[in-house]
Amino acid sequence: MSGDRELDVVVFGATGFVGRLVAGYLAEHAPPGVRVGLAGRSGRRLASIRARLGAGASSWPLLVADSFDRASLVALARAARVVATTVGPYRRQGLALVEACASAGTDYVDLAGEVLFMRESIDRYHGVAAGTGARIVHSCGFDSIPSDLGVLLLHQAARAGGAGDLEDTTLVVTALRGGISGGTLASGLGQWDEMRASARARSLAEDPYALSPDRAAEPDLGGQSDLEWARHDAGLGIWVGPFIMAGLNTRVVRRSNALQGWAYGRRFRYREVTGFGSGPAAPAQAAALAAGVKAVTAGLAFPPSRALLGMVLPRPGQGPSDKTRRAGFFRIQIHTRTSAGVRYLGKIEARGDPGYAATSVMLGESALCLALDRDRLPDRAGVLTPATAMGTALAERLQSAGHTLTAQRTTQSPP
Ligand SMILES: NC(=O)c1ccc[n+]([C@@H]2O[C@H](COP(=O)([O-])OP(=O)(O)OC[C@H]3O[C@@H](n4cnc5c(N)ncnc54)[C@H](OP(=O)(O)O)[C@@H]3O)[C@@H](O)[C@H]2O)c1
Repeated sequence: MSGDRELDVVVFGATGFVGRLVAGYLAEHAPPGVRVGLAGRSGRRLASIRARLGAGASSWPLLVADSFDRASLVALARAARVVATTVGPYRRQGLALVEACASAGTDYVDLAGEVLFMRESIDRYHGVAAGTGARIVHSCGFDSIPSDLGVLLLHQAARAGGAGDLEDTTLVVTALRGGISGGTLASGLGQWDEMRASARARSLAEDPYALSPDRAAEPDLGGQSDLEWARHDAGLGIWVGPFIMAGLNTRVVRRSNALQGWAYGRRFRYREVTGFGSGPAAPAQAAALAAGVKAVTAGLAFPPSRALLGMVLPRPGQGPSDKTRRAGFFRIQIHTRTSAGVRYLGKIEARGDPGYAATSVMLGESALCLALDRDRLPDRAGVLTPATAMGTALAERLQSAGHTLTAQRTTQSPP
């Protein structure tokens, strides 16, 4: 349906912090002949971004569009096979573009970390996109690609090994270094504010199956709330603390399971934690992380301390320096035990600041995957997840881009 488009990929939000990085990634890594465009609300600023991308990008078309101008979004969606948008906070200004892409049969990727936005996108546009054949894929960055592809690879390895369904599955962040941008802060704050103001929004976001395609059909596996404090995990044999993105990633992974007809298993229990090992310092480190998360959350909830924090935290358009982005990295392990009692271990690792350097690779490769690998993608349309929209085609792209994604049977003890 979208083969006759003027462009293969358009980056919407190319003047923003992550948008500039994604445009830079595509300028360096898109194969010759791939038609890329840059979109945003100022033609002048887009031209200045393009001028810094080098000769390969000098002829890239510029498209002026505004999230609050529906006609400009319809034109944008009709011009491209894939729109990659970094225009956030998505809750405030993302839904009209989802509608435009779903209606036009245009594939769409974003970096949304806002469960409430994604739930509304599913409720309003899953059916529309399924009808036109559009793949609408949220959370194509550090949130939630490592989690979503990591569990998919474990499922495929367990199936290939005849080891049955996935059951207790835990993602452990074993190492992470990175920064934060003003846009990410604004998006997180927007969702916290909405959750504080509305009991309905709070209970939706806290539901482990908040993004389910069929909430009533989800299995009842008892409590699955995200970890908030430090504790010793007897199964893993390590001290663990909260992982700040668990509230999003776990919902995405559970949606992937449901969209595949619960292929991972009906007894698939999934959680995400930060791991601190079993050394003497581990309990204090896990407790310090948990207390730190609570303190920052409380500080941002209280107007005077939020105003103070606002003076030191980055503003929209700002983010980690080039040096911080290059020095960053993440290492993740996913431990699972299958219905046959076999253990598998997944490893997902990349160099570069997770939320910015590694994320720009993930979003850029997701856009290229939808534009160029169509024959290899799962036969599915609607509001999807990275695993259900792109699956192993995306995993292979990320491996080729230098990311580690593996899943193997193991007897190894947890970290
Ligand atoms: N999932 C992940 O791993 C991950 C990682 C990083 C970031 N993110 C998310 O990515 C989003 C962007 O972050 P960021 O740091 O790049 O933010 P940012 O620097 O503030 O950039 C926001 C972009 O949106 C554009 N924009 C704002 N209002 C617009 C409107 N009405 N119409 C069209 N464009 C508009 C801005 O354009 P102007 O230049 O014209 O203002 C800018 O290009 C956030 O939601 C953040 O949470 C997610």
